[in-house]
Amino acid sequence: MISKNKFISDPEGVNPDKIPAKRLYTGDEIPVIGLGTFGSDHVSADQVAMAVRQAILLGYRHIDCASVYGNEHKIGPVLSELMEGGLERKELWMTSKVWNNMHGEGQVIESCKKSLSDLRLDYLDLYLVHWPFPNHHAAGVDVGSRDPDAVPYIHDNFMKTWRQMETLVETGLVRNIGTSNMTIPKLELVLRDAKIKPSCNEMELHPHFQQQEFFNYVVGKGIIPIGYSPVGSPARPERDRSPEDTADIEDPVIVEIAGRLNVHPAVVCIKWAVQRGQVPIPFSANRDNILSNLKSVVSEPLTDKEMELLAGIDRNCRLIKGQVFLWPDARGWEDLWDPDGEIAD
Ligand SMILES: NC(=O)c1ccc[n+]([C@@H]2O[C@H](COP(=O)([O-])OP(=O)(O)OC[C@H]3O[C@@H](n4cnc5c(N)ncnc54)[C@H](OP(=O)(O)O)[C@@H]3O)[C@@H](O)[C@H]2O)c1
Repeated sequence: MISKNKFISDPEGVNPDKIPAKRLYTGDEIPVIGLGTFGSDHVSADQVAMAVRQAILLGYRHIDCASVYGNEHKIGPVLSELMEGGLERKELWMTSKVWNNMHGEGQVIESCKKSLSDLRLDYLDLYLVHWPFPNHHAAGVDVGSRDPDAVPYIHDNFMKTWRQMETLVETGLVRNIGTSNMTIPKLELVLRDAKIKPSCNEMELHPHFQQQEFFNYVVGKGIIPIGYSPVGSPARPERDRSPEDTADIEDPVIVEIAGRLNVHPAVVCIKWAVQRGQVPIPFSANRDNILSNLKSVVSEPLTDKEMELLAGIDRNCRLIKGQVFLWPDARGWEDLWDPDGEIAD
């Protein structure tokens, strides 16, 4: 019989009890590291499901899913199998997200129910609005692809979507709700008008893109920042690559710290993330990398000096610019991110 919270069949794994957690304003606790599940259009749904299986066996208890990743129906059977083997649902933190083409009346609830059924769960720990726009793109499109019906952020419409998120909490299908790909002015309005405030905000965060002002804002509002692309998304799709992008894992400061610790530079990025205070959700389909990323949370921390050096290498390099979500009159991808502190229209 496998005892509670000790479901590690891989002897090299980390005891999940040793992984710290952060407390949300709702009282729930989210493990400080999760496994991402976006296969970047080249890792198959089966391979991602296998990665989830390995991750849980190695001691992960937090999985970041989304309907648009196209693999929840493969992850569900893995979760069922592990739970039949003794893993308890309450040990896991499961996140999913509503995609942009399901913001309309009734659709958020429909989409959540579909994710629950695909994941074979009866509740989610966290449900996020993936992007604050109802602008759709099909899987695998290139950077020039546009949704002809794309629109800028329309707060009244977002709140209609958010009301459905609140209903999901009220009906017990979801324990916590949150936002993703937001900006300060947009979140300011949501915090003003929400009945149930977001408890987490998922945002791009890595050493070359630290978003210090937004990070401080989120933390100051009692919201947990979940950091996506924490390693700098080295295998991201072509549509998310630009010539001016920089590579965190090639940064000399990161490479040098990795040398001292005898780890891959990716591990330094994850250590930095957790020590700074966000919850990174690195993706990996490679067992050794999945394990090193988890171990990074329980091994020797970065020194204060190293944290200071890492704070100094921010390049303001946003990788996931979101070009495919632009509306016809938008000036450029920057408009998605309100660089002037006002919501672009
Ligand atoms: N909310 C949003 O809009 C949004 C947007 C983007 C991403 N996300 C979420 O964030 C997750 C992570 O972001 P991401 O997938 O873009 O990028 P990422 O986690 O920064 O990078 C993943 C890549 O890094 C490599 N890697 C990971 N750990 C490594 C290690 N220890 N050593 C060497 N290489 C390592 C992986 O290769 P191997 O497979 O070979 O290890 C993989 O190619 C996604 O999966 C998704 O769940 C959310």
